[in-house]
Amino acid sequence: MRRILALLTALALLLACAVSLADEGKTVYVSDFSAGADGWYGRGASVAPAGGVLKTTGRQDSWNSPGRDFALVPGGYYELGVEVLQEQLDSASFMVSVAHTVNGATSYENLARGTVKKGEWTALKGTYTAGDYDTFTLYVETVGAGTLSFSIRGFTVTAPNGEPAPKPTEPPMVISAVDSMPALKDVYAGKFDFGSCVNMMQAVNPVLMDFVGSQFNIVTPENELKPDAVFDLAASRALVREDETAVAVHFDRAKPLLDWAQANGVKVHGHTLVWHSQTSPEFFREGYSGSGKYVTREVMLGRLENYIKGIMAYLDENYPGVVVSWDVVNEAVDDGPGNLRGSPWLTVVGDDYLHRAFELARKYAPEGTKLYYNDYNTASPNKLNGIYRLLSSLLQEGNIDGYGFQMHHAVGQPTVQQITAAVEKIASLGVSLRVSELDVTCGKPTEAAFTAQAAFYADVMKLILRYADQFEAVQVWGITDDASWRSYAYPLLFDKNRNPKPAFWAVADPDSIK
Ligand code: XIL
Repeated sequence: MRRILALLTALALLLACAVSLADEGKTVYVSDFSAGADGWYGRGASVAPAGGVLKTTGRQDSWNSPGRDFALVPGGYYELGVEVLQEQLDSASFMVSVAHTVNGATSYENLARGTVKKGEWTALKGTYTAGDYDTFTLYVETVGAGTLSFSIRGFTVTAPNGEPAPKPTEPPMVISAVDSMPALKDVYAGKFDFGSCVNMMQAVNPVLMDFVGSQFNIVTPENELKPDAVFDLAASRALVREDETAVAVHFDRAKPLLDWAQANGVKVHGHTLVWHSQTSPEFFREGYSGSGKYVTREVMLGRLENYIKGIMAYLDENYPGVVVSWDVVNEAVDDGPGNLRGSPWLTVVGDDYLHRAFELARKYAPEGTKLYYNDYNTASPNKLNGIYRLLSSLLQEGNIDGYGFQMHHAVGQPTVQQITAAVEKIASLGVSLRVSELDVTCGKPTEAAFTAQAAFYADVMKLILRYADQFEAVQVWGITDDASWRSYAYPLLFDKNRNPKPAFWAVADPDSIK
């Protein structure tokens, strides 16, 4: 009954806030803010509706903005309009932009631009043919002028050619089980931390982040601390004229999650300093050019040192104590015989590059930071041997603390026996352990598939509980199925409305599944 009431309230709200009408073949969606924020939320800023206007304050970056999720139809053609007012600068440039995601990866496009003079409501208009994306967030940002407060009114999305109506995505459903749902961070308190990865788009959605905070006490930025997000190519190119080892770093993408974690006392696991993937190819080349020669080993080690030093210094200064652990190196072992995978790191530095990375991470990380090597397919026998050899060698230099099992699995693949053998072998090294990226694909979203998935999750948790002394954290790789990097096969604990799936109950109480 409560759930039906909640749904009816949500529907009534939607109808009150939005006028969706058919007019000579046009379909229009209007946010007039007459009855509230109409699903608009602050992206790294605060938004407040009043008298038909939505005001945005507390901005620190140009992308900080009022935004709203829309269910646009890929291929659909839309016209967008909004009026903007600002009272602080003589004039300022604004853009209407879209953030779209596919398989959890976000990209951006600017759709309309305009100059807004002080005190004058100004219309911005643009068009957008929706690409083949899973989700769309429309927002209004400034070009520069990152702290400017401003207001918007009359945001419209029109489908002029009779295409399917642009729909706002449904407001988050009230979760029926929320009162009786245990928090995973509490269930495992005293044993290990329980967490998830969170990406930037999620970090600026306060409703979602309240939910994250209710369940998890540790988060990993899904992409925002990877080398391609942190390495500032343009600024580094400017520096490198003086010194080939100079590196500039920036944290624009990680900031929303770091701010939230700091404000809410949630720990952050850093992912990842050194990786063959999601790393700009220019990082390894002379002058940071796209096609120049690789730099020498010495220069590369200098760059690595400056990179790690810059990251640690920034985080320690701005977020002391927030990032408690790091994946120093990710996925360095190949899937065949278990040797070091071919990568620019191996080519340019040589086969001690992991040792040097751990040495530098130890040198610059605040005391007490746990340093991990992280990899996938640990349960495959050859790779397990390779990882074991690598860890043994790193342990001799004493700069590594632990091993992270990614655990991107499918139901029954690998078998629980294979995973057990892998955990047993790595645990025998006496290192700290974590499940850094847990998800279990289950195919189609049927009851049978969800039941089998729950049983597999329960088995994995029972195994981890047997080694609870060594595990420091278990982190799922995503919050809800729809936002997973493997969303096509429903791998996570919550459905798209944040309702707990059978897998959630299995993780919350593995013994409930025999
Ligand atoms: C994935 C992210 O989830 C995606 O959003 C991104 O497009 C690609 O990377 N192993 C890792 C993670 O260590 O960084 C990867 O994350 C998943 C596999």
